[in-house]
Amino acid sequence: MKTKILVVDDDPDIVGTLKDRLESLGYDPLTASDGLRALELIDQQTPRLMLLDLEMPKMSGLEVLKRLAQSRQNEHELPVIVMTAYGTVSAAVEAMKEGAYDFLTKPFDVDHLTIVIRKALERERLTRQVECLRTEIETRYAHIIGTSQKITSLVALAQRAANSDASLLLLGESGTGKELFARSIHQWSPRRSMPFVIINCVALTDTLLENELFGHEKGAFTGADRLQKGKIEMADGGTLFLDEIGDMPIPLQAKLLRVLQDHEFHRVGGTHLIRVNIRVIAASNKDLKQAVKAGRFREDLFFRLNVVNLTLPSLRERKEDIPKLADFFLSRHIRDAKKPLMQLSEQAVAALTRYSWPGNIRELDNAIARAVVLSPHNTIEPEALALSSTDTSEAPALGPQPTDWDLPYHESMDQHSRSIIASALQAANGSQTKAAERLRLQRTYLARLIKQKNISVEPRRG
Ligand SMILES: Nc1ncnc2c1ncn2[C@@H]1O[C@H](COP(=O)(O)OP(=O)(O)OP(=O)(O)O)[C@@H](O)[C@H]1O
Ligand SMILES: [Mg+2]
Repeated sequence: MKTKILVVDDDPDIVGTLKDRLESLGYDPLTASDGLRALELIDQQTPRLMLLDLEMPKMSGLEVLKRLAQSRQNEHELPVIVMTAYGTVSAAVEAMKEGAYDFLTKPFDVDHLTIVIRKALERERLTRQVECLRTEIETRYAHIIGTSQKITSLVALAQRAANSDASLLLLGESGTGKELFARSIHQWSPRRSMPFVIINCVALTDTLLENELFGHEKGAFTGADRLQKGKIEMADGGTLFLDEIGDMPIPLQAKLLRVLQDHEFHRVGGTHLIRVNIRVIAASNKDLKQAVKAGRFREDLFFRLNVVNLTLPSLRERKEDIPKLADFFLSRHIRDAKKPLMQLSEQAVAALTRYSWPGNIRELDNAIARAVVLSPHNTIEPEALALSSTDTSEAPALGPQPTDWDLPYHESMDQHSRSIIASALQAANGSQTKAAERLRLQRTYLARLIKQKNISVEPRRG
């Protein structure tokens, strides 16, 4: 795609000349004859650079620059090169104070024009790249917040385990940070410069999951018109994260076990063996031992994965970490929503600490995100957190609960739906397949609901 450059000038001759010039340089010029239209085009077309005349009748170039700064339309750092008539350099200086990147004097020198444009575009590209790298680093080293003894000892254990290639099993309720731990362990490990590949064992049919894991050869089945590598192969040299491993169908468990033992496998429809060097981290929010007993999970695979076991505590087991986590999410969401500084009132922190967090850290994250958007004041009060007032007990919200008639319609329906799903799961001893049958839902749809609503269920013991 050609780079879009916006030219703004009330003089049609200049617009015409620049348009031709830019086209011949291989750019895609957009044109506007006044400031208002320019602002519109910036919004709709997101050009990468603007050449802006300073003296225009409807809205001066300087005014355009000011509006850009105010409206935050310029958050992507659109570089602006201002154009001034010969002898009015002071106006250009003024414009540069307002954030313009460079200036050109009319009439243009073609070589100069070309150089200034290239330089400005290069800077724009670098700014973008820095922004990308910054977010990448942030996610890579997303720190694990918490000073409770429970979490610090887990971090220490995880860091020690990171140095080895031992398989790791992460257990814990939904939203307790299993994926965050898996990513961190990869980052702490010698494999950090190689890929971290996630495969979610739920929301797929068995054949799709097999295909996703092992890939396929060209012609392996109707529609397989080209070779496709699977995630195991993509993770070569790095870490493979098998999320929700408890949902992996038994036949695939056997195939996975073979990969873990022999470090080699076949693509679907393939005949030659492919060798891989992967480190496996698996996660589950189910009681896998129970699943082994019930015959839903292979014992040999369980032992193979469970070389190192990290069980993440629920949030209600480490309430002392809640205020720090809340602050962390607060600053993140303020930044994302580009809001002015906000804080949690003392009562809000107390309410957060009292609440039982059935959805754990993810639920806390969501509650703060919602409060940042909805709170009418810069100090967030308990009401803006919209925690259900009935649920301040210590136990996770499981099983049918009395309907809270004070809740608005949608929340009330949501609570009801959570509670019937939780009871169906409990009755089915944690089996999503059986629960889906009871509820007459597709298993994959139920899995999605469980994930969305952060429902976690311990199967009945015994
Ligand atoms: N200790 C922590 N500090 C900061 N953020 C955390 C911490 N633990 C978890 N989070 C955040 O909480 C959210 C949920 O964590 P994560 O996705 O790792 O949970 P999970 O156990 O994999 O959940 P699920 O079983 O539902 O997949 C993520 O946004 C994650 O970054
Ligand atoms: Mg997860």
